[in-house]
Amino acid sequence: MKNNQIGIIGLGYWGTNIVNVLFKLGIKKIYCFDKNLENLKEIKKKFPKVNIIKNFSIFLKMNFDGIIISVDTKHHYSVAKKCLLAGFNIFLEKPVTNNTKKLIKLIKIAKYKKKKIMSGYIYFYNDHIRYIKNLIIKKKLGKILYMSFERSNLGPVRNDISSVWDLSSHDIGILKFFFKKKIKIINFLGHDILKKKIYDISQFSCKISDIKVDFKSSWLSPEKIRKIIIIGKKKMLLYNELDFESPIKIFNKYAEYPKIGKFKKKFFTQKANIYLGKTYVPKIKSSSPLENEMLEFLKCLKNKSKPMTSTNLSLDIHKILKNLN
Ligand SMILES: NC(=O)c1ccc[n+]([C@@H]2O[C@H](COP(=O)([O-])OP(=O)(O)OC[C@H]3O[C@@H](n4cnc5c(N)ncnc54)[C@H](O)[C@@H]3O)[C@@H](O)[C@H]2O)c1
Repeated sequence: MKNNQIGIIGLGYWGTNIVNVLFKLGIKKIYCFDKNLENLKEIKKKFPKVNIIKNFSIFLKMNFDGIIISVDTKHHYSVAKKCLLAGFNIFLEKPVTNNTKKLIKLIKIAKYKKKKIMSGYIYFYNDHIRYIKNLIIKKKLGKILYMSFERSNLGPVRNDISSVWDLSSHDIGILKFFFKKKIKIINFLGHDILKKKIYDISQFSCKISDIKVDFKSSWLSPEKIRKIIIIGKKKMLLYNELDFESPIKIFNKYAEYPKIGKFKKKFFTQKANIYLGKTYVPKIKSSSPLENEMLEFLKCLKNKSKPMTSTNLSLDIHKILKNLN
């Protein structure tokens, strides 16, 4: 990188995590801007080596190699537009914006200014998710029949986008990472409980080829859950992100009906056979997904290369989510 200088806008919960990681990765000059002065004070207290800039026009005149944007989603578009027009490559947190027209505008501006937008779909940089993708590609679970994604917790409650955009956008991203095929939504149910038209709890299903997939997301739940279940024809898999000891379990279990020929006459009363085998817990050396993601951003700034999570991915995810508002 030319200047080894990174700007970051939005020093709330997630921006603070990003600053921590940037220091770990050896970035010495980090410049912070937030419209909330209290949050700027807090970040300076936590990381005395950060530089605070209180004026946005001055911030945009600095010699950053790139800018990271981690503000509330409703402000992503206006902040990102200003950074691109000022001539910066940017990292924009997921879901980039919740308005597809605005996303297309940002892509056009980036193209015109010859700048890159990397989007923050962090699971692309998660070693467990990469491991599962490899299992799917190598057909280790047999033909995939069904998957489910669940992401619940109490908070953070967003007041600008629904849980489906905030939480399930991660899971749609993971599904896109696993399969290149087209995703077709087959049903959707959203509950706006705390605020009108903002779904706190969302459920929907889709089909990808003939695989059925269910999604559930909620920020109004007493329990934190982050689980993926995959049902294959030969094996089943559970990914529990919160189980730090054994996040991935592969079960040699499946159920199937005997071949039709054998029970033609008693078809309607025939029971399925259940097979129960051993459970395998793979040992996976995993690194921090946020560190991997930031390394990718820094690498792209240095080499002027296209990020793995580019705006093409964001557009694909938008095409799916735009009907779930
Ligand atoms: N990748 C992940 O796993 C992950 C996790 C959490 C949040 N996020 C994303 O990070 C972003 C921020 O989420 P958060 O939980 O940190 O929210 P937050 O509310 O804790 O922080 C947002 C910060 O942005 C500031 N801000 C808002 N508008 C601004 C503007 N126009 N100019 C300057 N500062 C502004 C606020 O003052 C606040 O400090 C969201 O887009 C969210 O989707 C991603």
